[in-house]
Amino acid sequence: MKLWAGRFSKEIDKKTNDFNSSISFDSRMFEQDITGSMAHATMLGAQNIISKEDMEKIIDGLDGILNDIKNNKLQIDMSSEDIHTFIEAELTNRIGDAGKRLHTARSRNDQVALDIRLYLRDECDAVISQLIELVTVLCDSAKKYSQTVMPSYTHLQRAQPIVFGHHLLAYAEMFLRDIDRIQDAKARMNFCPLGSGALAGTTYPIDRNLTAEILGFDGVCQNSLDGVSDRDFCIELANALSIVMVHLSRFSEEIIMWCSWEFRFVELDDAFSTGSSIMPQKKNPDIAELVRGKSGRVFGDLMTLLTVMKGISLAYNKDMQEDKEAIFDAFDTVKMCLTAFTPMIETMKVNGDNMRKAAAGGFINATDCADFLVSKGLPFRDAYKATGELVALCIQKELTLEALPIEEYKNICDLFDDGVYDAISLEKCVSDRTCVGAPAPKNVVAQADRILELLK
Ligand code: ARG
Repeated sequence: MKLWAGRFSKEIDKKTNDFNSSISFDSRMFEQDITGSMAHATMLGAQNIISKEDMEKIIDGLDGILNDIKNNKLQIDMSSEDIHTFIEAELTNRIGDAGKRLHTARSRNDQVALDIRLYLRDECDAVISQLIELVTVLCDSAKKYSQTVMPSYTHLQRAQPIVFGHHLLAYAEMFLRDIDRIQDAKARMNFCPLGSGALAGTTYPIDRNLTAEILGFDGVCQNSLDGVSDRDFCIELANALSIVMVHLSRFSEEIIMWCSWEFRFVELDDAFSTGSSIMPQKKNPDIAELVRGKSGRVFGDLMTLLTVMKGISLAYNKDMQEDKEAIFDAFDTVKMCLTAFTPMIETMKVNGDNMRKAAAGGFINATDCADFLVSKGLPFRDAYKATGELVALCIQKELTLEALPIEEYKNICDLFDDGVYDAISLEKCVSDRTCVGAPAPKNVVAQADRILELLK
């Protein structure tokens, strides 16, 4: 029997019922639905809209339902239209007429808008704590590898020497911004739509602030039409999660590259790698590849939400039922990715020797060589040109800058002296980069400590 039975002379067509129903995906909000209903009933009782006796029956009844679902004593009936319908029907089964009073001064429109906010609030906290865990791992590793020299790249061409810890902290910064973005969206979402009714509020003397306060909101939605039809928070969160996935995906791409035998900068732990069905030598970075691939799902969820919302008139339209699968999938996916990604990073072996070897080739200290001439008074452009000639000479002679004899340096520019070899040593190139944000080992340690402190 449907909620709307009075107006209709027939049951809904069976297959259409499946199409219309959302219980298969909104049943996961059972706890939020019950918590919201308890707060609503408390308010109805406090305002004498229902009797105190009915209020107590409703709250006890809902509490029983919540416990029974949690303890698997009550199965959610998957033929119900949605979770709201199921809980209300179950309550009425258990307590009779009082159950039928629960929906006074409420609509499923403000009810579902409430439930999804309550649900997503917890999801935000869950993802934030996973991100904090990841950033902590990155900071700990950054300190461990604060002296591990590696090449940095632009255009995937060797550029300048850095340390591995510095590279890791670049990702820590990204994930810190992600945390910030999610917190920010959560704060904007934290207003209570209950009391918006179907779309035009209600004539009952409700106390919206009371329900909002019981449920831990920072206030109430100020316009009833907007209260029931706003899904900006879903879009904002899907956007924030998409950016998380961009970061995870770029990181994954680097891990995949670094695992290749062309690089061999890192080796993933066996517990986070897979083999091949035919090639016995293979150890594949499937986890990183999957994370990279799953970014597509989350971007798709964002597109779904934008598209669902863009053309619907005020206020509630059934299109909006499509919000849930998209935003749930975005959260599920990000949580799943982080669950595998963080321990993969934590356990991967870092091959500092190979990183250093790569840093020693490719003339990545050429900028520092030019800077040496600048320290002798030469304008940077001239120093740049002289160093370019040196690099060309080294390529021709198959030598590194470190191995090129001082006479050759002097032939190109007489400002050179033996001090150049110290100036272009990789360790010095790195340790002299002490300006804020630069990769000097002591900077890296200080930055990691600053972030760890921030996370507390
Ligand atoms: N299952 C619905 C949803 O998720 C609940 C709201 C139904 N409201 C309505 N007017 N049909 O959007």
